[in-house]
Amino acid sequence: MANSELTFGDKEFIVSKTDLNGKITYGNALFIQISGYTELELIGQPHNILRHPDMPAVVFKLLWSQVRAGKEIFAYVKNKTKVGDYYWVFAHVTPTLDSNYKITNFHSVRRKPSQKALNIIKPLYASLLQKEKNSGVAATEEMLNQLLKDKGVSYDEFILSL
Ligand SMILES: Cc1cc2nc3c(=O)[nH]c(=O)nc-3n(C[C@H](O)[C@H](O)[C@H](O)COP(=O)(O)O)c2cc1C
Repeated sequence: MANSELTFGDKEFIVSKTDLNGKITYGNALFIQISGYTELELIGQPHNILRHPDMPAVVFKLLWSQVRAGKEIFAYVKNKTKVGDYYWVFAHVTPTLDSNYKITNFHSVRRKPSQKALNIIKPLYASLLQKEKNSGVAATEEMLNQLLKDKGVSYDEFILSL
């Protein structure tokens, strides 16, 4: 049914890998099952095939700037399935480095987010998205930075405190 929330177990992980451009190269069974696509439909596609319109672009901007710099990032993400349902995840996205410290690919391991965290993330993302629609991504980034500054924490500290 379209626009219904899908969930998964506390002890389950949704895993995928991408190439340097964000094209999907691997998905575990749960990644494929919850997405509503077949493995064949997913492999080789850009990861934004799962992008939900409720997601503020600034989150992905941050994600890509971190992993391209060789760093990890934690992020709450709302994903859209093939039929238009959605599921929330708490993602840990990491770059893989070769023996010369060159990035070869990216990896995301997602767990079920807590309700407590989502109660904070949902209104935050809604206001970031509103800002994005009214004033663009750069203004949204400023808004997020200001919010973190007011709280006196970094993005990582904020996300990991939820
Ligand atoms: C390893 C990895 C996993 C990703 N997983 C997701 C995901 O589950 N959902 C999503 O919308 N974007 C994911 N992205 C980000 C997408 O590549 C993309 O930036 C995002 O969907 C926004 O689309 P856009 O950049 O075309 O606006 C992932 C990126 C990487 C590197």
